Amino acid sequence: MIRDILRMGDPRLLKRSASVNDPRAPAIQALVADLFETMRAVDGAGLAAPQIGVPLRVVIFGYADQRPNPRYPEMEVPPETVLINPELIPLGEEMEDGWEGCLSVPGLRGVVPRYKHLRYRGVDQHGQPIDRTVSDFHARVVQHECDHLDGVLYPMRIRDFRNFGYTDVLFPDLPPGADE
Ligand code: NI
Repeated sequence: MIRDILRMGDPRLLKRSASVNDPRAPAIQALVADLFETMRAVDGAGLAAPQIGVPLRVVIFGYADQRPNPRYPEMEVPPETVLINPELIPLGEEMEDGWEGCLSVPGLRGVVPRYKHLRYRGVDQHGQPIDRTVSDFHARVVQHECDHLDGVLYPMRIRDFRNFGYTDVLFPDLPPGADE
């Protein structure tokens, strides 16, 4: 079922989400299905459970067919992933600035520093462990989505607000669409 995506200003986006006890529970399968359906409906790159009002540590991101996101055509797209109870381990100190948008902050983009190299761990909706070492856009997406689980929205990480604005003004050549 396509769910409403909460927008910035909703206090539920600022809460810390709870760990999932049983990733294989039917309620989690239904949640994951709703997350994918909702994300696909707006052509997003990722979505976190609290964005649809479910305060659990579940995020999804990526594409099964690895097709480039039309709004990030130059970027390598992460594989389709369900990540539950994630643990993020930055590798090294190196941070990189990059543009981000968020389905909960529609119409806007901002430059956010993120760790360039990252290891992340967790389980999927079948209880299978995930343990990956990634860089660049993939690492950025994971950091952005997992921030939602701690009540952090990307504008809270912007350092220079001159690099924050309306997507259609900043990037007039981009195809119109949603923002994550
Ligand atoms: Ni977001």
